[in-house]
Amino acid sequence: MATPENKLAFEGGWEYSPAPESTDHIKVAKKYELFIGGDFVKPQSGKYFDTINPATEGRLSRVALANDADVDKAVKAARKAYGGPWSRMKPADRGKYIYRIARIIQERAREFAAIESLDGGKPIREARDVDVPLAAAHFFYYAGWADKLEYAFPGRSAKPMGVAGQIIPWNFPLLMAAWKVAPALACGNTVVLKPAETTPLTALKLAEVIADAGLPDGVVNIVTGAGDTGASIVSHPGVDKIAFTGSTEVGRIIQKALAGSRKKYTLELGGKAANIIFADAAIDQAVEGIVNGIFFNQGHVCCAGSRLFVQESVVEEVIRKLRDRMETLIVGDPLDKNTDIGAINSKAQLEKIESYLDIGREEGGDMYQSSCAVPEKGYWCRPTIFTGVSQSNRVVQEEIFGPVLAIQTFRTFEEAISKANNTPYGLSGGVWTDKGAKIFRMTQSVRAGVVWANTFNKFDPTSPFGGYKESGVGREGGLHGLDAYLRLEA
Ligand code: NAI
Ligand code: MG
Repeated sequence: MATPENKLAFEGGWEYSPAPESTDHIKVAKKYELFIGGDFVKPQSGKYFDTINPATEGRLSRVALANDADVDKAVKAARKAYGGPWSRMKPADRGKYIYRIARIIQERAREFAAIESLDGGKPIREARDVDVPLAAAHFFYYAGWADKLEYAFPGRSAKPMGVAGQIIPWNFPLLMAAWKVAPALACGNTVVLKPAETTPLTALKLAEVIADAGLPDGVVNIVTGAGDTGASIVSHPGVDKIAFTGSTEVGRIIQKALAGSRKKYTLELGGKAANIIFADAAIDQAVEGIVNGIFFNQGHVCCAGSRLFVQESVVEEVIRKLRDRMETLIVGDPLDKNTDIGAINSKAQLEKIESYLDIGREEGGDMYQSSCAVPEKGYWCRPTIFTGVSQSNRVVQEEIFGPVLAIQTFRTFEEAISKANNTPYGLSGGVWTDKGAKIFRMTQSVRAGVVWANTFNKFDPTSPFGGYKESGVGREGGLHGLDAYLRLEA
């Protein structure tokens, strides 16, 4: 509790000495080529684009831009590997390669964490404690399934689909690559993966890992580029399955492009998760959960708890405690281990977030931001809350993908549910209460793929993840994640 002394310290802002993660151990090349057929090859486009550090706006590297011809080459390499060594290999041996990838990621964890933080702007603490260990855990988990598919789907024959085209976003670059590549390989498919244009570096490092792990050439191909490169993968006739994570807008474009084709697809799209706090909840713990749910990783999380519903009798307490906690959050150098909120991933994303701050105010919302200083260069957004907003407001309805929380109140259980479900999305949700029965009722009633109780943003490779409504199609993770990469026959 606040003693007079620590209250004073708090009002002056907590002072921490800088604790920067060293970057001496990492190697970022000046230029990266495409990873096709087991080799790093120059793009036929002849073009390269910059990837920058959003905390400094400085260039980190130049990365090859794959055009249609490059994508075609990658798909052909994947097809050749699929028809050749990969499908002839014993499933247990495929598993050994996947284990090897997992172990190399663990060995190089510090390097991966630092590069993830540099390229995308996320705090090193998160990259180190969440992204990299979870990425390794996904490879470990799916490696174990490679020779056990007949137990996963008893009585049915499980066949790979062929070549999987995988397109991932910039918020969890290595982790999203792991979510996609690990189950695809475990099921015997080969892969063409495209990372996001603002965060290609850890996928290119993963290409090095895959080469070091000795996978047969062409089993995993990594092509870099922006939307056109992604679209080229989607429309390529040699691709059997598309797995996409990103915006609902692009998800719709992909769905249209695939309509009527034989290609299978899974889409992991946007979200506007509700965090629901009942008066009987442990309030301090709930406040910590709200902060974790929307402010960490700059709100760049599809399952971010971006809507908060608080039972009326505790709303003043929750908001007071939340504002106090917001004042202690440190926004700044992503490589500093004390940093809670790093850089916004790109200038475009910062502009989008700022436009929503204007929209929220124009709609009549009361905006409150923490008072912390932010660096001059780079893309930054202070943690922000809106109160006095209503269900029809755009800041309540639309995905902002920034550290911006819209707060509303409710009186009854039913009101909480109807408000929480009043959204085009349905990816995740959270409930905070002392009563187990309320938790069960809530998880039955919230239409979302994942509902956390008295915690938020917890992930594990064994549990499926995915959305309802405009949040997507299909599930990733766990057994469900295998299903998405197999043809199951009776
Ligand atoms: P985006 O959906 O455009 O990008 C995601 C990936 O799709 C990237 O690799 C991109 O190059 C690729 N892509 C873009 N256009 C494509 C097309 N026509 N065909 C195939 N691939 C294509 O997301 P963006 O523009 O980076 O962010 C915009 C908004 O999307 C964010 O503000 C956020 O609201 C949402 N978003 C949601 C994510 C999630 O995890 N659900 C992740 C990233 C963004
Ligand atoms: Mg970058």
